[in-house]
Amino acid sequence: MTIVRILTGRILSFNQSPFDAPPDDAADIYEAVAVGNGRILAIGSSAELTSTYPNAQTSNHPDQLIMAGFVDPHVHYPQTAIIASWGKQLIDWLNTYTFPEEIKFIDQNYARLIASRYFDLTLASGTTTTCSFCTIHPESVEAFFKEAQNRKLRVVAGKTCMDRNAPPELCDTAQTAYDESKRLLNLWHGVDRLSYAITPRFSPTSSHEQLEALGALWKEFPNCLMQTHLSEQIDEVAWAKQLFPDARDYLDTYEQHGLLNRNGLYGHAIHLETRERDRLLDVSAALIHCPTSNTFIGSGLFDATNLISMGQRVGLASDIGGGFSFSMLRTMASAYEIAQLQGKALHPSQLLWLATAGSAATLHMDDRIGNIRTNFEADLIAIDLKSTPAISQRAEYAENIWEEIFPTIMMGDDRAITQLWIHGEPRPKN
Ligand code: GUN
Ligand code: ZN
Repeated sequence: MTIVRILTGRILSFNQSPFDAPPDDAADIYEAVAVGNGRILAIGSSAELTSTYPNAQTSNHPDQLIMAGFVDPHVHYPQTAIIASWGKQLIDWLNTYTFPEEIKFIDQNYARLIASRYFDLTLASGTTTTCSFCTIHPESVEAFFKEAQNRKLRVVAGKTCMDRNAPPELCDTAQTAYDESKRLLNLWHGVDRLSYAITPRFSPTSSHEQLEALGALWKEFPNCLMQTHLSEQIDEVAWAKQLFPDARDYLDTYEQHGLLNRNGLYGHAIHLETRERDRLLDVSAALIHCPTSNTFIGSGLFDATNLISMGQRVGLASDIGGGFSFSMLRTMASAYEIAQLQGKALHPSQLLWLATAGSAATLHMDDRIGNIRTNFEADLIAIDLKSTPAISQRAEYAENIWEEIFPTIMMGDDRAITQLWIHGEPRPKN
């Protein structure tokens, strides 16, 4: 028999994108939500739901904000242990901290240890879905998917492919990248709530042949996502152009090899040329804003509001471990600061939307996660809007729900997340 649970609190449900409508009006607040069989059954008043589901178990979360769990569409779970490594910009940071750490994932036990730690940390921060790069080692993919499967999570991941400009221990070949990606895809894609993403790290670490092989694989599995990096730092852009002299620009290094379409996720995408912006828009590709990483590694300012107003699909991500926080609250605060530096104020509803429904849309999963709607998968979080004395004293002054939420966005962290429900089941914080 299905157990139905009714959760009461302040249930936040977006009725549209706050970038397409007055942001104040883009969400509704309900009193209760009913979940069962892993899904959201109904939203409404407590009285309505208890009369529809008289045998339901009720849990009350007075004053707490109950919303969809956060969706983080660009992370590197293998970089968990080197988060907040000091003093380097992208290429130096990769060579000094990242590659030596990723070499360790040849050891399946280490991969399992870090995958488990990664999910402990992100769930504590209220993130219920992530799209992750792994390392070149199939062991790292297995460890991530097995851990997510045990925890009943919806996740996306793929084996990172590199065959040049990286330590020999981290290089595969065009053929092994194709073969191993295909084997892992066949093994995991569509199992439970797991999806495979074809994953060339970025064009500077792949040969023409490898990009071509992965483009061919994507053609065989066009419904899979493809994730990579694009135009993150000025030096990196120059390096990509130098390595691919025939390419019109950085994006063309992917386009020429069949690695550009609407199922592509392009991390960072800061220093775009006009042709690149136009092509990304034409094909409806997804741009992933990684604000903590973009400031921490010194990459630049992504112009989220302008790109979204042009019609680009944009998600918001932590980019662990280039980003310095596992918390999507901290990530939203960074996005707010970056927009302010460009003379624009992102509304709290826009920030929350980017961290949930917007990011789910970049994964083409906005019909099942990232919002509280009937029939959506019930990955939910409860947020205490007074989780610290500093937040609480500011929230006291709030005149509406958005003013009440904003101090938690700017100053909140994992302490604000009080409870999770994964696929409808309550999951206490660790
Ligand atoms: N570009 C290529 N690899 C990486 C990575 O691991 N992190 C970031 N931030 N950028 C990259
Ligand atoms: Zn990245």
